[in-house]
Amino acid sequence: MFIKEGIYLVTDNKRKLDYIDKIIDEPIDVLSFIKQSEDLRDDICPSIGKEIGSFLHLLAILTNSKKILEVGTSIGYSTAWLALAAKKTNGHVETIEIAERLIFEAENNIKLMNLSDYVTFYHGNGESIITELKDDYDFIFIDGATKSYKELYEISLKKLKAGGLLIFEDILFSVTAKRTIQKEMMNEFNIYVKNDSRIEKSYLSLGDGLLLCFKR
Ligand SMILES: C[S@@+](CC[C@H](N)C(=O)[O-])C[C@H]1O[C@@H](n2cnc3c(N)ncnc32)[C@H](O)[C@@H]1O
Repeated sequence: MFIKEGIYLVTDNKRKLDYIDKIIDEPIDVLSFIKQSEDLRDDICPSIGKEIGSFLHLLAILTNSKKILEVGTSIGYSTAWLALAAKKTNGHVETIEIAERLIFEAENNIKLMNLSDYVTFYHGNGESIITELKDDYDFIFIDGATKSYKELYEISLKKLKAGGLLIFEDILFSVTAKRTIQKEMMNEFNIYVKNDSRIEKSYLSLGDGLLLCFKR
């Protein structure tokens, strides 16, 4: 009975994911090209994909976010979804990536999508660069440096405007990570945020898990 239920759930989940994948169109061909080429390489981490990409795009528009910050650019897939939102809100995206070779690729991809006017790239460590930034933000998306999530959470909260959204990817590493230490660290982070009364929050099982934090 238990095994049957398990098999049923896996099949059902795959069908749901395949359906969502078919129904969401990437608004620019270059986006699907980036996603497809990513599957053929082993020198970059997976991007957020269409489901989360379109969700972040919608959230940024819904909140009329003009000042958008991202940590973990990689080759610019998530950056492009955010830039498309910024184009609609008259906003701008600032994105931070620690690997210089990826920044070059991301810049090129964003240029191919005619979105360069909406994106500023920073090369370096997200934790240090955020503290140096002078502005406050409406929308902050963190998708990298999972070891530093707690530190990034505290720094980002200071940089988030009242009424702003702070979003973390990969929060389900608390169950899916290969290494126990990584699982424990992410679980600790999730509980830390859960107990923080300064914000309203929501944990979602989209992709590798999204945590949405709203600053009152
Ligand atoms: C999961 S990938 C980001 C994927 C990207 N957001 C997307 O969906 O297209 C994580 C990225 O974070 C970068 N990274 C890791 N630690 C970082 C840090 N401390 N500061 C800035 N970027 C970092 C990695 O080099 C990697 O490219």
